[in-house]
Amino acid sequence: MSTTPVAARMLETLLGEWRSPAAPAYESLADRIRLLVLDGRLTIDTRLPAERDLAHRLALSRTTVAAAYRRLREGGYAVSVRGSGTLTRIPSRTPIAHATAGDGLLDYTKAALAAPAVLAAEARAAADELVGYLGGTGYDPVGLPVLREAIAHRYAQRGLPTDPDEILVTVGAQQAIVLIARTLLTRGDRVVIETPTYPHAYEALQAAGARLVSVPVMADYRDGQAVDGWDAPALDAAIRRTSPALAYLMPDFQNPTGRSMSVPLREHLIDVAAGQGTIVVADETPAELNIDRPDTLLPLPAYAGGQEASVILIGSASKAVWGGLRIGWIRAGRTMIRRLAAVRAGIDLGTPIFEQVLTARLLPGLDGILRDRRSMLERGRAAVVSQLAARFPQWQVPHVDGGLAAWVNIGAPVSSQLALAARNHGLLITAGPRFGIDGAFERYLRVPIAVNADQVEGAVDALAAAWPTLARHPMPDPEYLAAVV
Ligand SMILES: Cc1ncc(COP(=O)(O)O)c(C=O)c1O
Repeated sequence: MSTTPVAARMLETLLGEWRSPAAPAYESLADRIRLLVLDGRLTIDTRLPAERDLAHRLALSRTTVAAAYRRLREGGYAVSVRGSGTLTRIPSRTPIAHATAGDGLLDYTKAALAAPAVLAAEARAAADELVGYLGGTGYDPVGLPVLREAIAHRYAQRGLPTDPDEILVTVGAQQAIVLIARTLLTRGDRVVIETPTYPHAYEALQAAGARLVSVPVMADYRDGQAVDGWDAPALDAAIRRTSPALAYLMPDFQNPTGRSMSVPLREHLIDVAAGQGTIVVADETPAELNIDRPDTLLPLPAYAGGQEASVILIGSASKAVWGGLRIGWIRAGRTMIRRLAAVRAGIDLGTPIFEQVLTARLLPGLDGILRDRRSMLERGRAAVVSQLAARFPQWQVPHVDGGLAAWVNIGAPVSSQLALAARNHGLLITAGPRFGIDGAFERYLRVPIAVNADQVEGAVDALAAAWPTLARHPMPDPEYLAAVV
């Protein structure tokens, strides 16, 4: 059996603010480790630190850690294996990595919409069109010309002239992130990221050996005034101080805060990054989900002047159209595209043809699809805002003018407990710390607005039922959860 150890120090970082005044330390510790396992931050078969080491690190008695481990074992979240110590487990036969919300659970871990109505008819037409491709081998590492043209055309419509040769089609934006990380990072390189950020991005960057440097993005209130967006001086300082290889950022409708970068910050970012030799990777996955943003903002390279080479864009059909297409792309200079395509062969041998044909059929009608998405998001947002105001008047729900979610300040450091308790009331939702790299964000909950407005009441009911139970600690729930989108 192969096990991965987690050092006491690392576990301490992952645990974040785990202590709760409402429960004994052993219970709080066990609960927090359980959430790390459920969230996929501690994989199954992780060897937990020796009791003595963890006790020393957390300044607890060894008995407390032993009691926490015992509680994990009793709940099925750990086993003791002779010679291997205490290993994490999931107490269920649910296959790993199937983060499905079966059994009538409402899944708020995915901030994404169902497919647009037009997709079924276009899929049938795409099946006919596929015939024209069947004479070839079907291996397509860069993307079908027809799709690359459609993507390039969309950039031009958004104010960024683009040549199809500057596009590489990938299997979703996720693969684009992995590919960029593998191609451009050497172990130990620094990468600037936002916190909170999209978790599977920092996982991909870490897997490529990145040392992450985080810069805060806020969606908060201070003295009743909204404090919005990037900590611009911190971003500037992080890039100047660490000369990172990459800066992975989401300039439009940042996931999870929903913020967008101002024009001056876009211009400044490109300048500073170019000065330090840093490549800015702008993930635009949520960028087309505008509801009523007052400013017209162009894609980042449009502000680059002569420094275009320092920006790579990632795009995706997943949020604008449908996640099931698994179509994403990278926009970069031709030389960079060739470099990425060469590395890609070590990951996979191309993007499926049918989905590319289908996406190429859908993109010309994207404005119509987005009009429908906008009204769904608007309804989702209205439902979330009004339901939360009615049930949780003490929570601070920042206004978002687009994107997938609201980053809600729940007023107390109990996000993990709330997420655990909500499962017992039929709601899967991701706790705030999943969006940070050091266990922070216990006071925040990402509440998707990219949801069916009719279901919001059920979700808020579940949160309201869970909220008063936090002090009592919920029973373990075997539902495994790894993916957050
Ligand atoms: C910011 C961001 N990047 C990338 C992804 C992954 O997108 P895809 O489904 O295209 O792989 C997501 C999904 O939620 C996302 O929010």
